[in-house]
Amino acid sequence: MKKSDAWKRKIAYQIYPRSFADANGDGIGDLKGITSKLDYLAELGIDYVWICPVYASPMDDGGYDISDYYSINPMFGTMEDMDELLAEAGKRGIKIIMDLVLNHCSDEHEWFKKALADPNCEEAEYFYFRNSENGAPNNWRSMFGGSAWEHVGNGRYYMHLFSKKQPDLNWENPKLREKLYEMIRWWLDKGLGGFRIDAITHIKKEPTLSSLEPDGDDGLVGCFGPTRNYPGIGDFLTEMREQTFDRYDCITVAEAAGVPYDQLGEYIGENGYFDTLFDFTYSELYSYGHAWHTCKKAWEWPISLLRDKMFASQIETAKIGFGAVYFENHDYPRASEKFLPKEYQSPLSQKMLGTLFFFLRGIPFIYQGEELGMTNTVFESIDDVDDISTKNHYRLALADGLSPEAAIKAVNRYSRDNGRVPFPWSSGKNGGFGEGTPWMKIHPDYRSVNAEDEARNENSVLSYYKKMVALRKSDEFVETLSVGDIEPILTEYDDIIAYIRSGNGKKVCVICSFSPYPLNVKTELIGKKLLLSNYENASLPENGTIKLSEFEAIVFEC
Ligand code: GLC
Ligand code: CA
Repeated sequence: MKKSDAWKRKIAYQIYPRSFADANGDGIGDLKGITSKLDYLAELGIDYVWICPVYASPMDDGGYDISDYYSINPMFGTMEDMDELLAEAGKRGIKIIMDLVLNHCSDEHEWFKKALADPNCEEAEYFYFRNSENGAPNNWRSMFGGSAWEHVGNGRYYMHLFSKKQPDLNWENPKLREKLYEMIRWWLDKGLGGFRIDAITHIKKEPTLSSLEPDGDDGLVGCFGPTRNYPGIGDFLTEMREQTFDRYDCITVAEAAGVPYDQLGEYIGENGYFDTLFDFTYSELYSYGHAWHTCKKAWEWPISLLRDKMFASQIETAKIGFGAVYFENHDYPRASEKFLPKEYQSPLSQKMLGTLFFFLRGIPFIYQGEELGMTNTVFESIDDVDDISTKNHYRLALADGLSPEAAIKAVNRYSRDNGRVPFPWSSGKNGGFGEGTPWMKIHPDYRSVNAEDEARNENSVLSYYKKMVALRKSDEFVETLSVGDIEPILTEYDDIIAYIRSGNGKKVCVICSFSPYPLNVKTELIGKKLLLSNYENASLPENGTIKLSEFEAIVFEC
């Protein structure tokens, strides 16, 4: 089927369902809650909503451990609620994108239970079981820490690249693949707008599963080399596309870490496996060695590093396809925590950050709460945390001799639970999240940072996001700002990230200043029309200079 590329002109929004809106008062966000907030999303101008997993799951990893792909986790509601959400979203012109987790399932999935019970059954072949006399079959390290193998007795082990409750699926098995494709088609038949495809670059493993040179004191080795974008993966991905996505009018967004730019075409080129993907090169600037507490300051790198990585991604992607652009998701602390020192985190600088990613070439994904300018929350102790990877990092810090007080500091900075706190709808009880006590503590700032108050305030981050959405979708600029070209400018300035979008006979300039001081910037650009700024009195370039206030963002036609 020749697909339309209308999606490139659209705006997407990501929902973490457990923390978005609770309709039945049990303290947990649910599908009915999402349905009840569709008008909010429509008003913001959202076209696609990606919902993190709502399938049946023991919730070991926030639902990324699926025990039944065909049913809804009762915590989130029922299949009828899902159908209702699809129908109500459709009425508002919103398409729903579900999360598709195919690298692993839950150890509570029926396949795995059968496989455990009978090593000779068909389902045992759906996983990576190996026998080994002397400990784990190899020295690969799981992404969440520790060995990637779990012992189930009698020298029998299974592989899990993520938590031990997430056994990896064996894609080499054709029967398994057919079952997965059948399931994908079943969901698409319901009229989904598409899928965000989880951890997909991991489905092919180095076939001999050999141990490698350890890269840490634990004697283990990170599993990226032998399991990320491993040669041969393309056969699976092509087959999946042909058997499923190609037959529907849907979009596919791959979580595709580790794809080098020279292979981008295979993923999202003309005949790529997917429509678009998330590139992680510019959203993960810091590397923290073996644990968070060994990384000192998240923003202790020059702005030019962010700029170089971001533009490399933009330019390489533009050569062959169309990316998905974002700063936040459910796996990260809040963007202002990553890109700005604490003392400079404010609605002003958050609008600047928003401007920076929003007008890049790609379909923008706003993560829930980002449009309110939410910052990291406060975790007083590890009991405030739910996330499995956070708990692992906390344990690693204690093991390194840190006190609980010291260990919780790194948690506060890096935990992905920062982005998973209940959405603050109002300054009322439980921040308007629902009647019952929320499953996770609400952000302490909810009285000032919440959707209701921000909707009323013309100068809020929310009102600014509405203006950004309206501009990107405006008849006048939609072509330029979506599929138009991108060119970095002003790269000689350390604290500025700026670019020009051009196409459809128009040029739009976007300048973002990370400087806490005003700057006078030399430029030959001629400003034709001011389109947007986080300052009321922003001025266009004059006589070869543009005056920028601290943390200014300005968008103008040139
Ligand atoms: C992806 C998800 C993340 C999850 C992991 C394992 O990276 O975004 O939340 O923990 O896959 O499924
Ligand atoms: Ca609920």
